[in-house]
Amino acid sequence: MLKDPARIAVMVSGGGTNLQALIDAEKKGVLRSGLIELVISDNPEAYAMERARENGIEAVFTKDENEMISLLEDHGIELVVLAGFLKILSPDFIRRYPERIINIHPSLIPSFCGKGAYGLHVHEKALAYGVKVTGATVHFVNEIPDGGRIIAQKAVAVEENDTPETLQRRVMEQAEWKLLPAACEKVSAKIRRERMGK
Ligand code: GAR
Repeated sequence: MLKDPARIAVMVSGGGTNLQALIDAEKKGVLRSGLIELVISDNPEAYAMERARENGIEAVFTKDENEMISLLEDHGIELVVLAGFLKILSPDFIRRYPERIINIHPSLIPSFCGKGAYGLHVHEKALAYGVKVTGATVHFVNEIPDGGRIIAQKAVAVEENDTPETLQRRVMEQAEWKLLPAACEKVSAKIRRERMGK
């Protein structure tokens, strides 16, 4: 870990395998310009919160955006990472963090994205369409759902007998769990450089 890492909050709604990938990347030094300080969940049952606590990271459940903003401010958060966070944030929230909120989406944007395209549904849509290549995208969050500038993408092959579940797993293993830590490192490094006036 580098000195004065960018302070990261991860926002989650579910199982938190992407959060786990970030925690593991931090341990391995893949993520070294940023440190996860806080996890916020809008789902009280999210297993992601347990993953956070097991790793000594504060995890808070709230559905209230004002409370989310207070938490981010109290923790001096500089980068917000949406890792399987399924609530659409309000324009007011998003405007507070220009190019400081990033999201992972389980397709190659602009395919199979936007409002209502989340989790397993994304893979159902990809299979129904018959695409032979899908993947994952990390992008900045703006006021258009899945519409912000793309930071990184990785393609994954669709196989003959794929179900939404097998495809979801392959996209996670081959793309998401590598792409998100790498993108977090890139944006965190930029935040540190800007802070140091470079
Ligand atoms: C991930 O596949 C992520 O890309 C997706 O939800 C899953 C969360 O899994 N996000 C979206 O669909 C956002 N539109 P996880 O809780 O195990 O990280």
